[in-house]
Amino acid sequence: MKAFVSAALFLVALRLISATGVLGGVPVEGYGLSFQYYQDSCPQFEAVVSRKVNEWIKKDSTLAPALMRLHFHDCAVRGCDASILLNYKGSERSAVESKTLRGFEVIDDIKAELEKSCPKTASCADILTGAARDATVRAGGPFWMVPYGRKDGRVSIAKEAGRVPIGHENITSLLQLFQSQGLNVLDLVVLSGAHTIGRSTCGSIQSRLYNYKSTGKPDPTLSPQYANYLKRKCRWSSEYAYLDGTTPKAFDNAYYKNLQWKMGLLSTDQYLYSDSRTKPLVAALATQPQLFNYQFGVSMAKLGNVQVLTGDEGEVRTNCNAVNRY
Ligand code: HEM
Repeated sequence: MKAFVSAALFLVALRLISATGVLGGVPVEGYGLSFQYYQDSCPQFEAVVSRKVNEWIKKDSTLAPALMRLHFHDCAVRGCDASILLNYKGSERSAVESKTLRGFEVIDDIKAELEKSCPKTASCADILTGAARDATVRAGGPFWMVPYGRKDGRVSIAKEAGRVPIGHENITSLLQLFQSQGLNVLDLVVLSGAHTIGRSTCGSIQSRLYNYKSTGKPDPTLSPQYANYLKRKCRWSSEYAYLDGTTPKAFDNAYYKNLQWKMGLLSTDQYLYSDSRTKPLVAALATQPQLFNYQFGVSMAKLGNVQVLTGDEGEVRTNCNAVNRY
């Protein structure tokens, strides 16, 4: 009862925020980051990131969700420090959990361009954060102000990539992960809404389709029609299925409606509508598209500030794939 009342109050507060746009008008700085960070040292920073992201996505629209996901995987391990970009045996990027990550070439291209105009200045962590924002906008999602000044980490360990959830976790462990990063239950539900676009390899969901928990049947929390469709689509683990089975290319709140129709692709998506801590939020987001759009920007801004290195911490890499040799 107590949980229900607090969830209801929370939703009323959210409605007020979304109606008045109070928080929307005050972008969040702090964590040693600043909106003016590149004003003098690299004034073209945001223009270059945005131009390059647009060029790449124009050629291949699947890079928009790929960049958003890459940013999440970066921030989930050692904070937003570009540790996911380091490319050597034993780095996060080399881990099995990272094998379907994409979009690295976009970041490398932006970095090469920025090294020409402002050498040793623009960090890979800032580039990835800015690129994720621009990819969201390009996909039809909201714009939010990104403060800059993140430094790049010097450490990346494959085993730590195992902290990033792969779609089978329960809500308690997802909440623990998010809370350990300073993110809350609303951020979890709203950021999972990134799955309104993009795809999953079938390998991530096959355990739900054919012999769920040794029953010889699909996961009963999947609608039977959707399970049949997925069984046809996912004969090979290397095939793909859209994360949003109804409007896969539109950045919209259909993801939440799908959960109400038992059409969540990953178990972790579907659990959001069965767990009492997250279900009321899914219900609110399913009926209020403007709330999703607004809060997505707010939660992404929070994600981009997770455990950032600033000032003398870390370094500005000259090549996003390797730590500096000097
Ligand atoms: C809450 C826990 C999360 C879990 C368990 C999860 C899990 C997954 C999995 C299993 C995939 C498919 C991987 C494959 O190709 O097999 C995926 C894709 C994706 N995830 Fe998540 N994710 C979570 C949170 C997030 C967050 C916070 C974001 C971004 C803010 C995000 C953005 C994406 C996007 C955009 C894709 C599609 C990528 C593409 O099309 O290449 N996810 N996620």
